Parts: sequence; C-alpha cells; structure tokens
Amino acid sequence: MNEIAALKDHKRTHTGLPRVGFLGVGWIGRQRMQAILEAGMIEAAAICDPSPEMAMEALKLAPEAAIVPSFDCLLNLALDGVVIATPSALHAQQSIQALQRGMAVFCQKPLGRTKCEVEAVVAAARRADRLLCVDLSYRHTAGMTLIRDLVRSDAIGRVFAADLTFHNAYGPDKAWFYDKTLSGGGCVIDLGTHLVDLALWTLGHPPVDTVVSKLLRKGSPAHPESGDVEDFATAVITLSTGTVVRLICSWHLQAGRDAVISASFYGTKGGLALHNVGGSFYDFVAEHYRGTQTAVLCSPPDIWAGRGVVDWAKRLVANGAYDSECEELIEVSAVLDRIYHSACDQSP
Ligand SMILES: NC(=O)c1ccc[n+]([C@@H]2O[C@H](COP(=O)([O-])OP(=O)(O)OC[C@H]3O[C@@H](n4cnc5c(N)ncnc54)[C@H](O)[C@@H]3O)[C@@H](O)[C@H]2O)c1
Repeated sequence: MNEIAALKDHKRTHTGLPRVGFLGVGWIGRQRMQAILEAGMIEAAAICDPSPEMAMEALKLAPEAAIVPSFDCLLNLALDGVVIATPSALHAQQSIQALQRGMAVFCQKPLGRTKCEVEAVVAAARRADRLLCVDLSYRHTAGMTLIRDLVRSDAIGRVFAADLTFHNAYGPDKAWFYDKTLSGGGCVIDLGTHLVDLALWTLGHPPVDTVVSKLLRKGSPAHPESGDVEDFATAVITLSTGTVVRLICSWHLQAGRDAVISASFYGTKGGLALHNVGGSFYDFVAEHYRGTQTAVLCSPPDIWAGRGVVDWAKRLVANGAYDSECEELIEVSAVLDRIYHSACDQSP
C-alpha cells in the first residue's frame, strides 16, 4: 500500500464524517469555517493558526476540534481535507504539502502568486487524486450563476465585450496585504483574480490573445518588479474569440461608497450584468438588457459567500477525488502574470 492509500485508510474514525483541519482562521478563515460547520457535513478535527487569539475564536465555532501548534502537526493527523485561509503567499506551498499527505484542499484565492505556483499545486492534486477547490466566491452569487448559464445558452448572442470592476474603497485592513512577500501583489492579485476568473469562467475559457495593463500606486506608476504593491489597475484582455474584456480594480479609491463591483457582458442580442447595490460587498442585482430595456433577473437577499466551501464539503463526502476543473485556475493565473508583466514592460 502506498503512503497516500495508507493515510486514507486511517481516516473517518469518529463520526463517520470527513475530518477537516482549518489552517489560518483569521477573518475569512472563520467565515468559511462557520459556513461549512453549519452545513453539518464534516467533522472539524483541528485548528492551526500562529495567533492564539484567532485560534481561540475559531475554537468557539468548533469546541470539539484540537488546536495544533504547527502545520506539521496538522499534516500528521491524516485528515480527509484542509481549509486554507492564510496570507496569500503561503497558499501554494501549504496546499501542495496537504495534497502530498492525501488531503483534499479548499484554498482561499489566490491559489498561487504565479502561473508556475498554480501549476505545481494542480499537478500535486492530480498526482494525489485529491479534490482541489479555490474560493472564487463570486461565482456562487445567484446573479453570476444565472448570467453564466444565459451566456452559455446563447441568450445574448455572441459576446463581443465584457467590463468588470472591483473597487474596494477601504483596501485591506491587515499589514501583510501590503507586503509583496506575503501577498504576492496588490489589488490585481487580491481583486483582479475574481474579475479574470469571472470573465473566463462565464465565457467558457477561450484562449487569451493579448493583455495590456497599467498599474498605479498612490496615483503614480507602480513597479511590481521592485516590490511595489499596486492599488489601482486597468487591463484590456483580448480573447481568441475576438471578445474584448476590460478590467479595473483598486484599493482605497475615492469611489463615494464602500465598494463598486460589477461584471457586464455585451452580446449581439443583448446584455447581462451583475452589480452591487448601494456600495455593498454582499448585495447584488443581476439584469438582462435588451436595447434600452432592463429586466431584473435576481436581487438580494442571497447568502452566497459560503457556497464554495459547502460545495467542496459535499464533494469531499462523495469521494474527494481529483476534478480537472481546477486546471482552469492555471489560465487565470497566467493572465494575472501577464497583467503584471505587461505593466513592467511599459514602465519607464
Ligand atoms: N474568496 C474571497 O472572496 C476572499 C475574501 C477575503 C479574503 N480572501 C483571502 O483569504 C486569505 C486570508 O485573508 P484574511 O482577510 O482572512 O486575512 P487574515 O489576516 O484575517 O487571516 C489570515 C490568518 O492566517 C494566519 N496565519 C499566518 N501565517 C500562518 C501560517 N503559517 N499557518 C497558519 N496560519 C497562519 C494569521 O494569524 C491569520 O489569523 C487571503 O489570501 C485573502 O486573499 C479571499
């Protein structure tokens, strides 16, 4: 019996439910932990976070879980899966280590800082035959699900343009986001990841032809190659289908509201758009445009943020086997690489 098969043999000892560890239980880690626990499909076996305060807060959600002092200790527990919500630069290596120990992984975005890192994680998942999912949470809004289905069913004809926006007027409130060694970059890797993913996922992942971008920091050109963390970015991406995708994202923009979030798709027979309501990070409407007419497809409330992790849990219960869908993440990260490199190529 090989090592992974032997590890799988020791699992599901207590309740019969998959045993899951939680690595990084800061803000989003605890949100996702709460969502997966409320769904009742897994047993919370272990919590690992170097901050005792964060670990204790997480323990309130799952008093039966063990707090473990290090990731190595968590790896030695032979769990069925791990939910990773640590600073972004740690995601790839931690995911690989968990997969190599036969654990399925649900990781926060971004899965890696570069295409190279993302490819390595996907390869580890494939080798281990373990499920790898990433929290591309906006896919799970009711509005984006409807929009994607309508685009795929030709409801707006050939899509020739898409405009996607994500302005977070506050920017992250933790210091590590502004340290490239921990974050991997600024608003592009933080918010642009969602936008690139939503565009490619909705449009069926056509090959990408060209990427031209501009990155700024405090209103002046940013130099990502020298460690600058950008706080404003625009990119124009041309797909092999001819579709032109325009992205814009920022931290700390004086946008007159908390957030501006939208994804609009324009086709030969109509348009479809998701946009946030009243500056909210959580409330969205989806609309279908025909000429100058607007039909509302869905509106709040919609409790979508935990759907990704719950979906992962369902699939872990089923068998937790590798799903090649995670290979889509490689192209998303390749576009992000090109957004950073295109900006470097043009900097004076
Ligand atoms: N999917 C989404 O929509 C979404 C939303 C918000 C944040 N995120 C992502 O989630 C991640 C975490 O963001 P956050 O806002 O919760 O940050 P956070 O700082 O609140 O949480 C990170 C936690 O990781 C812990 N940590 C640091 N090093 C660790 C290590 N080596 N092992 C284990 N734990 C460690 C920290 O102590 C902290 O508790 C980021 O990558 C971010 O991009 C995704």
